[in-house]
Amino acid sequence: MNFYHRLSSPEKSELDRQIASLDWPLVHQLVQSVVLKPQTWKIPADLSPPTVYPYVPNDASQQEKYRKAFARGEDLLRQGKIAAFVVAGGQGTRLGWDGPKGTFPATPVRQKPLFQCFAEFLVALAKRYGRAIPFYIMTSPINHAATVSFWECHQYFHLNPQQVMFFPQDMLPAISFDGKALLETPASLALSPNGHGGSLLALHKSGALADMQRRGIEQISYFQVDNPIVRCIDPLFIGLHDLDEAQMSSKMLPKAFGKEKLGNFCLVNGKLTVIEYSDLPDSLAEQRLPNGELRFRAGSIALHAMRRDFVESLNDHGFALPYHRAEKKVPCIDPISGQPIKPDKPNAVKMETFVFDALPLTTRSIIYETSRTDEFAPIKAPTGVDSVVSSREITTIRNAEWLLAAGVQIPRRPDGTPDCSIEIAPSFALYPQDVLARKSDIPPISAGDKVYLQ
Ligand code: UD1
Repeated sequence: MNFYHRLSSPEKSELDRQIASLDWPLVHQLVQSVVLKPQTWKIPADLSPPTVYPYVPNDASQQEKYRKAFARGEDLLRQGKIAAFVVAGGQGTRLGWDGPKGTFPATPVRQKPLFQCFAEFLVALAKRYGRAIPFYIMTSPINHAATVSFWECHQYFHLNPQQVMFFPQDMLPAISFDGKALLETPASLALSPNGHGGSLLALHKSGALADMQRRGIEQISYFQVDNPIVRCIDPLFIGLHDLDEAQMSSKMLPKAFGKEKLGNFCLVNGKLTVIEYSDLPDSLAEQRLPNGELRFRAGSIALHAMRRDFVESLNDHGFALPYHRAEKKVPCIDPISGQPIKPDKPNAVKMETFVFDALPLTTRSIIYETSRTDEFAPIKAPTGVDSVVSSREITTIRNAEWLLAAGVQIPRRPDGTPDCSIEIAPSFALYPQDVLARKSDIPPISAGDKVYLQ
């Protein structure tokens, strides 16, 4: 670069600090293996669908197992052995929200931010089981300070600050196709977070794993920041995972259609693996069984249960997960002239690891099927599929189902969807069966109403 000597001393020290914070031997290795000589991904020959625990148990013995699993999950909560862990380091570029994604107003009536949804869920869960639940929040250097100050401003939404730990993941530079780290400005590199797979290393480096060990945490409930109705900890899922002595497990949804944008759970040479939607060829994504069901129907909603000691054991191989290559348009400056460049086509490679690539490293892993309306309303884009609009609609549909099951009348539009907005705070009901006990607190609902239950 030609203009280092022209930078002011604070700019020089900031750039020096950035450079010193990066793992350059790793960057060098990735430039060779991911940028300059990328391996083309080939569909493995031995590819088959995995077995899953169904949403509704198949028979009496499975029903008994689910009962035991739920009780086990509840016991683990009572004993304070489960921590919640959200990955919130992503840039949220698609959503176009100017701030950490967790601060985005999500819910249909009160427009509570995503972080508040999780905090309230954990407050209600802790109250029910009589034990505080430690909450670990992974940020990135881009949004760390804004995230922490948001939580401080809102007094941690009634969580005890002693139970909440923030830590940033590592960053990597965007690399031009000829193998050079790009500059975003004359005084800073174009950096981005190293993918949610970086969370496993970050748990270790930040001392979060050691903190969990001190607190007696055995299981980690992992989720993404984009889903306001996520069950941050689900006793049934964690209970099944624990009873089966699994190391890292996952929840899945049956895909709505073959090419739905969900990672696909597959067995590759007998090892559980997630193949991203962009990597699974159409012929396999659309393949159907004789009964009409998709052959690869299990879509990942990025909810995992992990044993703490499994994450610790990954330290033995340096938390090494494969790096994925994404070609992106990265605004940067010309290294010679210093002029800004706004590319209209991809000009660089970003490198990320994905947490689900730890699944093939397990010796035991389970998958549990969940229901779409029950816990999947992600906010990824401003409009359309997986947007704030669809998320609020799904949340209302879920809440209407919970109320209906308790005998509450719901006004409907001609297409059958609820003609109202309904928000249920976790303090009102954590599970659908909680609604009945509070039925007398529910007002009659008319068309167009906005109903908030707390
Ligand atoms: C992700 C999954 C996809 C899954 C879908 C379900 C990947 C590659 N794909 O897609 O399999 O079906 O969710 O909703 O994960 N994050 C970080 N640090 C990073 C990058 C991401 O913390 O460096 C966090 C984000 O803040 C977010 C989550 O990871 O909470 C998901 O990231 P995103 O890149 O939005 O993944 P999706 O494409 O939505």
